[in-house]
Amino acid sequence: MTDTRIYAERRDRLMSRMGGGIAVIPNAAEKSRNGDTHYAYRSDSSFLYLSGFNEPESVLVLIAAQGDTASQSILFCREKNLEREIWDGFRYGPDAAKETFALDAAYPIAQLDEKLTELLGNQPALFYPLGADSAWDERLLRLRATVQSKARSGIRAPDELRDIRALINEMRLFKDAHELDIMRRAAAISCAAHRRAMRNTRPGLFEYQVEAELLHEFCRSGARDPAYTSIVAAGANACVLHYVANDAKLHDGDLLLIDAGCELQGYASDITRTYPVNGRFLGAQKAVYQIVLEAQAAAIAAAQPGYSWEAPHQAALRILAQGFIDLKLCHGTVDGVLESESYKRFYMHRTGHWLGMDVHDVGEYKCSEQWRPLQDGMVLTVEPGCYIRPADDVPVELWNIGVRIEDDVVITATGNEVITLQAPKSVNEIEEVMRHE
Ligand code: GLY
Ligand code: MN
Ligand code: MN
Repeated sequence: MTDTRIYAERRDRLMSRMGGGIAVIPNAAEKSRNGDTHYAYRSDSSFLYLSGFNEPESVLVLIAAQGDTASQSILFCREKNLEREIWDGFRYGPDAAKETFALDAAYPIAQLDEKLTELLGNQPALFYPLGADSAWDERLLRLRATVQSKARSGIRAPDELRDIRALINEMRLFKDAHELDIMRRAAAISCAAHRRAMRNTRPGLFEYQVEAELLHEFCRSGARDPAYTSIVAAGANACVLHYVANDAKLHDGDLLLIDAGCELQGYASDITRTYPVNGRFLGAQKAVYQIVLEAQAAAIAAAQPGYSWEAPHQAALRILAQGFIDLKLCHGTVDGVLESESYKRFYMHRTGHWLGMDVHDVGEYKCSEQWRPLQDGMVLTVEPGCYIRPADDVPVELWNIGVRIEDDVVITATGNEVITLQAPKSVNEIEEVMRHE
């Protein structure tokens, strides 16, 4: 299927799930950084998922089929403007956008309110990202009120307001072949970046110098942006879960935790590796590392179709609990540690999340109060860890050790596919890669 057909098919599927009505899906706004500069533009993920169109100031309107009237996909976008294109670059304009993106119609964005007032008439329901942005709430309610004021002409305004995100998110949770192809490529670039970082790590460098190796590999491979701010955390910094300062010196004898992944064509990758700054794991570091690695293997083995979303987390917890007892971080039995949640002092996050266009991707984790079963086409991360802060009751040789190991896993019909295996992970592999530089 061509890319254009893929987006059209997604729109058709969404409209058939709406069961009638009109959907308004705005793209993200550009964000000013400071005088005359903007943050790099990033389309709204759901807008991009349904359109493939990547310009700001655009809105997608979908009208589900009703009776004899066929469904319609309509784009509102910026007009061609040669003056602006000299300064800012190419823009499609409605005519070319309509042809290129296989839409039924396209209009200048300036006509949105006027056209919507017509299009909302006699639609049973208005779907949009309800409550996501108060300016859009206000605007659409105002347009609906305008339609209501025409009641005497026999035109009805939509009775029902519904959040379109519930429907789109459920579609986005299941990745199609086109998406998996991009995600595998994003994962491969991020694996190369982690290998490059490992080869270029040594005592005396600063964390940001290793970050530069990651960004270099992303950008040279066509993935200009990271999917999230890279975490490059040496020594005690690895115990700060969302550390992003990345400005400390790497010391001989420290571990370095790197959580970094590129975004490629709108899709995230998300990999964590932890390795010694000097290329050799010390005894206590190796002991903690092996426990986390074993927990990760158990969690990946539990990431199977038909297993619950919770199964990988529970599998990791049992291994971590036993490991924490062996290390004298926790006391008692595995069941006791799990019951009391004493492990949470050293492992305080969950073992993964959905992965897709957003690094923490959309999709419900529970259905009818139950953890949902894993299914073919879902993509998740598996990322157990252990973070040990200094304390009187903690063996001193374990102080400030922070380890996380994170891979990206596709659930298949018969098992799973780990798409980030090319980033070295075993003690031997890591020491081997680092020895060669
Ligand atoms: N990099 C964000 C996360 O691992 O969830
Ligand atoms: Mn993650
Ligand atoms: Mn991560």
